[in-house]
Formats: sequence, structure tokens, C-alpha cells
Amino acid sequence: MRAICIIGSPTGTGSTALLVDSSIAGMQASGISVERYVLGELHINYCRGCRTCETERACVQRDDMDHLLRGILAADIVLLASPSYWGDVTGQMKVFIDRSLPLCNAKASETPVPPHKIGVAVAVRAGRSLAENQHIVDTFAHYFGHLGIRMVASLTTEGVNTPEDMQRQQAKLEEAYQLGWSLSRLYAENVS
Ligand SMILES: Cc1cc2nc3c(=O)[nH]c(=O)nc-3n(C[C@H](O)[C@H](O)[C@H](O)COP(=O)(O)O)c2cc1C
Repeated sequence: MRAICIIGSPTGTGSTALLVDSSIAGMQASGISVERYVLGELHINYCRGCRTCETERACVQRDDMDHLLRGILAADIVLLASPSYWGDVTGQMKVFIDRSLPLCNAKASETPVPPHKIGVAVAVRAGRSLAENQHIVDTFAHYFGHLGIRMVASLTTEGVNTPEDMQRQQAKLEEAYQLGWSLSRLYAENVS
């Protein structure tokens, strides 16, 4: 079983990455092979809005998005994570979502993404209320819906402004690990 984990933070050592890495540890312990990407470390251009991908199912631009789209097509499990920036996903994550249009079912009514994949949404924020993170989870649910990916779980963390804050939330890190561990079972249930 294969998973692709896409972290929408500028950094691979921040609080979002820490939380996702705990889930990755759980996935790997259950035998899942994991690819981990940090959007801030990749080169991904803005969507140009040319709509070529709606007929060609491929973007006219060649950059790191090629690799991510191939990774989504190959994975059984897709995990998307973002810290809250101004109450929403990061700019990096928004560009990734826009550039996923070659896989979207909106125009051609079907997606090239093979069936039975499952999705997981992760959101992290400094503020205390859930509502803002729920907005991020809803954005990921919308994304998964247009790729025919069944979102089976979400994980949010509030009150986390730094990696040190995240380290202090040991119960949340353990929850992330257990979520990672449970994904092979959730995948099997989704296929059957
Ligand atoms: C540009 C920017 C905007 C932010 N906006 C919000 C916000 O609207 N609400 C919030 O709760 N936290 C906000 N934060 C705090 C981050 O969500 C928080 O620091 C998070 O833990 C960063 O995750 P990272 O270390 O993975 O990048 C913002 C941080 C930055 C840098």
C-alpha cells in the first residue's frame, strides 16, 4: 500500500510537518510505503488558467507538479495538510490545488484518478477555535470530492504556533500516529 503526504507549509520542520510525521510513523509501522513532500521546498508555478488540461488531462507547464500528480495517481492514500494562513490554506497549498485541475472531474464529469483511494485532511492553527481549521478541512474535502477520493478522516490541532507548541501536544501527536496506523484498515474497508 502506498501513501502520498503533501505538507502545505513553507517548511518541512514546522508544526504541521511534526504532526504529519507522526502519522507517517504510524503508516510506516503498519507497512505502508510513504512519499512525503513539503510544498515550500518544491518549484510549482501558478495555474495559468489556459484550460488546456480540461481536454488534454495534462498541464502545459513542466515543474514539480508533474511529480505530485503522478504520485497522487499511484497512491492508495492521499494526505493533505496545511497550517492556517489568514484562516485558510497556505498560498503554496492553494497553488497545488489549482494545479490539480488535470485530475478534476468538474468539466469532463469523470476524473482520471483510479477508484478506491482514500484521503486524509490535516489542519494546524495558532488560534484556539476549531471553526477556522474546519474551513481548511472543508477545502480538502472539496478537493478530494472532485478527484473521486473518499475522505475518511481529518485531524485538526488548535493552539499551535510553533513546533515547540506541537511537541507539547503529545496526545495529538499520538492521535496522529494512531490515525496513520489505522489507514490500511480504512483503505481495506473502502475497497470492500
Ligand atoms: C502568514 C501567516 C498567517 C497566519 N494566519 C493564521 C491565522 O489566520 N489563524 C491562525 O490560527 N494562525 C495563523 N498563523 C499561525 C500558523 O497557523 C501557525 O504558526 C502554524 O503552527 C504554522 O505551521 P508551520 O510551522 O507548519 O508552518 C499564521 C502564520 C503565518 C506565518
